[in-house]
Amino acid sequence: MTTSRHDPPPLGAENPHPPRTPSAAELADMDQEQLATLAANLDDVEIVHNQRKFPIPGTRAEKRAERAVAMWFLISALSAVAFIGVFLFWPFEYKAPGDPGYALYSYYTPLVGFTFGMAVLALGIGVISYVKKFFPDEVSVQQRHDGASDEVARRTVMAQLAKAGKDTDIARRSLIKRTAGLAAGVFGLGLGLAAVAPLVRDPWKGREEAALWVTGWKPVNGETVYLRYDTGDPHEIALVRPEDQDPGSMMTVFPFRESERGDEEALIRALRRADNPVMLIRLRPGTPVVLREGQEDFHYGDYYAFSKICTHLGCPTSLYESQTQRILCPCHQSQFIATEYAKPVFGPAARPLPQLPITVNDEGYLVATGDFPEAIGPSFWEIHGS
Ligand code: FES
Repeated sequence: MTTSRHDPPPLGAENPHPPRTPSAAELADMDQEQLATLAANLDDVEIVHNQRKFPIPGTRAEKRAERAVAMWFLISALSAVAFIGVFLFWPFEYKAPGDPGYALYSYYTPLVGFTFGMAVLALGIGVISYVKKFFPDEVSVQQRHDGASDEVARRTVMAQLAKAGKDTDIARRSLIKRTAGLAAGVFGLGLGLAAVAPLVRDPWKGREEAALWVTGWKPVNGETVYLRYDTGDPHEIALVRPEDQDPGSMMTVFPFRESERGDEEALIRALRRADNPVMLIRLRPGTPVVLREGQEDFHYGDYYAFSKICTHLGCPTSLYESQTQRILCPCHQSQFIATEYAKPVFGPAARPLPQLPITVNDEGYLVATGDFPEAIGPSFWEIHGS
């Protein structure tokens, strides 16, 4: 049996006729077509079959395929424009359920996700359908090589890629080029905006009334804000007295004002508002504590109230282990020490859980003496670890 230079060697054997590596001068003289052919030869690739998808340019089938690809790029571009519009102009400031503008606010995240997802998806489908519709039908056989590629291989691969583009006649497909450029450009612009905008937006806009700085515990017109727990019935007002809680235990509480009694909407809002939940912890008598500077009077005896919203990414820190005094966030395992102003001691959270100032009023109920002195929830540009 005789073998030609193009016969692939048996599996596992070295090619007995490796192609000659051209000199630098020969390489410089080669055109794109020759380089692409050389690339195949160097890689021991034998092209068994190669046929263009549209050998006759300008047919109706070709135009149809071109429009189908362009349509996906156009959808991607429009989605990216919509993403930028939503990201920049849709009302994103937090609104509590029932507040004016809540419905619009609640669509912000789904719309950002949908438009961004569509931009990526349509761009991907556009690229895939371009490859499927225009790349030549090709069957090749290649022997496997070990080790890194050399300079010749790298240059020839680039030539092969360029040839592949040429084989699909990308140069004369201006509709696809324009829509693909539009989609990639607008999508890139959206990504850039998404990266920069959070650094530019002013979390202080609105000052003391800005959504990031105010919770449902903020006193309004001097009205007392009681601590209540949720019985499952918003109309059943279960206010908290110190004797309701055992030493070494934790209770989740929400704000209540007498002016809200009977007002179902306001009562439900107080229970559902994302930044309202507070964990009321009663330490065992005599437990040593370290108080935070400036917040020495925030507790009442052994009672300490901390925001339940994790300062990492906002999960509820629902677990309190009274033996170790650790408050645990189940999401990413951040741990806070209840006896040291809930400062983080493990995990990704970077700052303590904000503490709610509390006392007991003349009637013997636990009440808040003010709102949290800092923003609750995840850290951000001006609120970071301390
Ligand atoms: S949200 Fe609590 S640790 Fe991540």
